Amino acid sequence: MARAALGLGAAARALALLAVASVALLPLVSSDDGYRHCEGVVRGWAYSSTGRDKDGDKMSLKDLLFFLHIPRTGGRTYFHCFLKKLYTNAQECPRSYDKLRFDPSHPDCKLVVSHDDYSLTSKLPRERTSVVTILRNPVDRVFSTYEFSVEVAARFLVHPNLTSAKLMTTRVLTKSRAVSTLDIWPWKYLVPWMREDLFARRDARGIDKVHSSKKVNAYDVEDMVMPLHQYINDPVAHEIIHNGATFQITGLTNNSYFDGAHEVRHCVRQHPDLGRIVLEVAKNRLDQMLYVGLTEDHEESARLFAHMVGAQVLSQSGTLNFDLKEDLPSENDSHPSMVEPEDEETNKHLNSTHGWQTNEALNSTDDEQGKGNMTVGKLMEAYETCIAKLRKSQSNRRKISLKKVEEANFSKEARKLVPETIVKQIISLNSLDMELYDHAKKIFTQEHLMLKAQQSMGWTDIICSDGVCSPWMVVVLGLGITVIIALVSFAVTTRRRTSKLKV
Ligand SMILES: *[C@@H]1O[C@H](CO)[C@@H](O)[C@H](O)[C@H]1NC(C)=O
Ligand SMILES: *[C@@H]1O[C@H](CO)[C@@H](O)[C@H](O)[C@H]1NC(C)=O
Ligand SMILES: *[C@@H]1O[C@H](CO)[C@@H](O)[C@H](O)[C@H]1NC(C)=O
Ligand SMILES: *[C@@H]1O[C@H](CO)[C@@H](O)[C@H](O)[C@H]1NC(C)=O
Ligand SMILES: *[C@@H]1O[C@H](CO)[C@@H](O)[C@H](O)[C@H]1NC(C)=O
Ligand SMILES: *[C@@H]1O[C@H](CO)[C@@H](O)[C@H](O)[C@H]1NC(C)=O
Ligand SMILES: *[C@@H]1O[C@H](CO)[C@@H](O)[C@H](O)[C@H]1NC(C)=O
Repeated sequence: MARAALGLGAAARALALLAVASVALLPLVSSDDGYRHCEGVVRGWAYSSTGRDKDGDKMSLKDLLFFLHIPRTGGRTYFHCFLKKLYTNAQECPRSYDKLRFDPSHPDCKLVVSHDDYSLTSKLPRERTSVVTILRNPVDRVFSTYEFSVEVAARFLVHPNLTSAKLMTTRVLTKSRAVSTLDIWPWKYLVPWMREDLFARRDARGIDKVHSSKKVNAYDVEDMVMPLHQYINDPVAHEIIHNGATFQITGLTNNSYFDGAHEVRHCVRQHPDLGRIVLEVAKNRLDQMLYVGLTEDHEESARLFAHMVGAQVLSQSGTLNFDLKEDLPSENDSHPSMVEPEDEETNKHLNSTHGWQTNEALNSTDDEQGKGNMTVGKLMEAYETCIAKLRKSQSNRRKISLKKVEEANFSKEARKLVPETIVKQIISLNSLDMELYDHAKKIFTQEHLMLKAQQSMGWTDIICSDGVCSPWMVVVLGLGITVIIALVSFAVTTRRRTSKLKV
């Protein structure tokens, strides 16, 4: 019965199986026992990880907001341009991005932003936690992961050799108490890997030698950088990158707090049809989230975020006024916001030799408007200003870093020159993520409709005009939201049923 459902993408599966088998040196034909064992493992895990999530009131913001930040989805702009404006430093759980030093027991802590996977919720008060995330087209996410690995690793090329690059970084990191890109999963694996490769290639061609210029495309500059096709087929990419969104949302990454994560993940890679079980759990999790955004639909995602999450943070803060002064970093600041936890960094030290330096661009320009008198409208305005600055410094920084690997000048145009076969391979290596992304798009549409319904009724204006919120209206709004949730969840369930039938 389930067989039919599992029949999708047999070719893709075969390919993935082949890749996994060749990578892990597993026998291509696993014994039935192996399959049955794995099926038990995966089903057992799925059973124990569903059910707990049942929760009728997913649309209202709970005490703690967990931003499950999938790498390379643009989550960093949300962090800096929304969340930093909505929460004070004191409200941010210490060392959000830093697994080793993360401390959710902090008394006032209301916000966790992390690349840690869903299993982090086992450390959080589950019933009092709302989860939000952003998904991105898996092909673009893989491209971007590759580009960022190269970008960060290339910064180390200012050093004469790998030994000295490593030594310097260790020294600097030990001295500073900052959280570095190199501390943070997945970059703590992806960057050193790429860095080693960059130095090896540089040594091989000799520093001063003019390289042979038979350029194919920026993603295949073999004498400078590990080419994309090699990157995506490496065991490290299989372990960390492919289907990364699905594994992160199910709490099954290589960085999981759940001890059984590796076994489940490896079973799914060995027997790709078991991936469907994991995918179902992932879809369920997305359904339960307070908000799901899409990197591609950036403007609408931001607007929805402001209304669905921002508005609630603002109204829950009691008054609509925030204390601007709290935003300045102090000596004791343990928040990673002032360093670069990961992607779209905006470091003014454009010739920086390290992947860790603090971010001056943000500390000074971010909050001219402050948090006082914040409303959803002002939040959006502040966001627009903030993101424009962020983008500019990001792209500057990238340009400077990529100069060190000259011909690997990645761009949207350059992506088009990548052979179709490689793109197809990425799609097949990420088949779970592809399907999860489709599901996220459906949720996104529902969110959009819900907000539209809400706004056409003018609730957002009625409930809080001029910063004064009527308690009576809050009740009415609450009722309205409940009705909408009921409708939406009905629609989603119906959709999911029909989509299951289709499969
Ligand atoms: C690496 O560079 C440093 C600094 O120039 C130098 O002292 C060291 O001998 C070099 N190491 C190797 C293995 O070349
Ligand atoms: C995660 O993956 C990396 C890269 O393959 C590997 O070096 C590391 O040991 C893995 N970590 C765990 C906990 O398995
Ligand atoms: C830093 O922490 C120490 C002890 O925890 C405290 O005495 C000091 O006042 C703090 N400094 C700032 C600037 O908050
Ligand atoms: C790095 O930047 C500083 C100013 O920000 C400049 O003085 C210095 O010359 C630069 N170094 C290199 C190697 O470009
Ligand atoms: C930003 O950081 C720089 C150096 O770290 C500091 O001199 C400056 O005062 C900071 N600006 C703000 C607004 O905190
Ligand atoms: C903004 O907030 C301040 C208090 O922080 C208040 O005095 C002022 O009247 C508010 N302005 C508006 C336009 O609401
Ligand atoms: C990328 O590099 C190639 C070769 O150096 C050059 O011809 C091309 O113009 C560059 N493209 C961009 C957008 O800089």
